[in-house]
Amino acid sequence: MKIAVIGAGGQLGSDIVKVLQGTGHRCYPLAHRDIEVADRESCAILRELKPEVVINTAAFHQVDACEDDPEKAFRVNAVGAKNVAEICAGIDATCVYISTDYVFDGTKKEGYVEEDPPNPLNTYGISKLAGELYTRRCPRHYIFRVASLFGVAGASGKGGNFVETMIAKARRGEKIRVVDDMFMSPTYTWNAAEVLLKAVEQGIDHGIYHLTNGGSCSWFQFAREIFTLLGLEVDLQPVSSAQFKQKAIRPRYSNLNNQKLKHLGLKPWKKALATYLREKGYLS
Ligand SMILES: NC(=O)c1ccc[n+]([C@@H]2O[C@H](COP(=O)([O-])OP(=O)(O)OC[C@H]3O[C@@H](n4cnc5c(N)ncnc54)[C@H](OP(=O)(O)O)[C@@H]3O)[C@@H](O)[C@H]2O)c1
Repeated sequence: MKIAVIGAGGQLGSDIVKVLQGTGHRCYPLAHRDIEVADRESCAILRELKPEVVINTAAFHQVDACEDDPEKAFRVNAVGAKNVAEICAGIDATCVYISTDYVFDGTKKEGYVEEDPPNPLNTYGISKLAGELYTRRCPRHYIFRVASLFGVAGASGKGGNFVETMIAKARRGEKIRVVDDMFMSPTYTWNAAEVLLKAVEQGIDHGIYHLTNGGSCSWFQFAREIFTLLGLEVDLQPVSSAQFKQKAIRPRYSNLNNQKLKHLGLKPWKKALATYLREKGYLS
């Protein structure tokens, strides 16, 4: 298949491109300099390439910054998705949109399934839900909701990812305070990329899927596991989100139930974390 990857320089996009290298598919990696999803004319490159599948990982996903600049959030996450989906529909391509656990309000404790009604609490989540709705207008579409990503490339604009932030703080000998009342499903981008591509290759039914590593934890529990695996002694204390003021409201429980894709090889999050730490050379 001919597969275009938008956001190819990003954390998830770069792993999708790398996973594709080991397959017989032809990959067109599109970095931000190659395509601006918010600009319809720029998206015309997709018409020239005529891929059979377009994977759109581009996003403005700094959650607090989205509150300050909702226009940009909608330009990139919603109008960008619309531009890509419309071109995909026109060239008969499958449109793949990467969405987020933040489309949910976090009141359900036992893990959201795909059929649960979204109810985003912040501008980022609202703009991504709008992106999902535009993507659904393309007859062949997949929406993969991911969460709390960690990948070798690190997220642009976020200065890496949570795992790297924790390791850097520990190395500086800082006191580390992490919220213990917000729960999510940490997800390794390499494993997500492998399973996403398997799902597309197998031609599973079009629609929405939760693409996360198995299980869930609080951000504090996630940090503790990082330090346990690395054998690091750190001054780590749990705090409540009330003590850690942030601009955007965040869902308290955004755990995603990955049952629909688990059989394609989604690992439990602790295993995925250990694999990441080995990949980065922190563990042998
Ligand atoms: N990171 C998370 O924890 C998380 C959680 C839930 C959902 N997600 C979703 O997962 C997807 C991938 O996230 P990620 O962590 O891989 O993000 P990332 O590392 O920031 O990668 C996004 C890529 O898209 C590019 N991009 C940004 N705006 C663009 C635009 N307007 N037009 C074209 N390209 C653009 C970026 O390029 P520049 O850096 O050069 O601008 C970057 O290479 C996103 O859709 C995000 O909403 C992420």
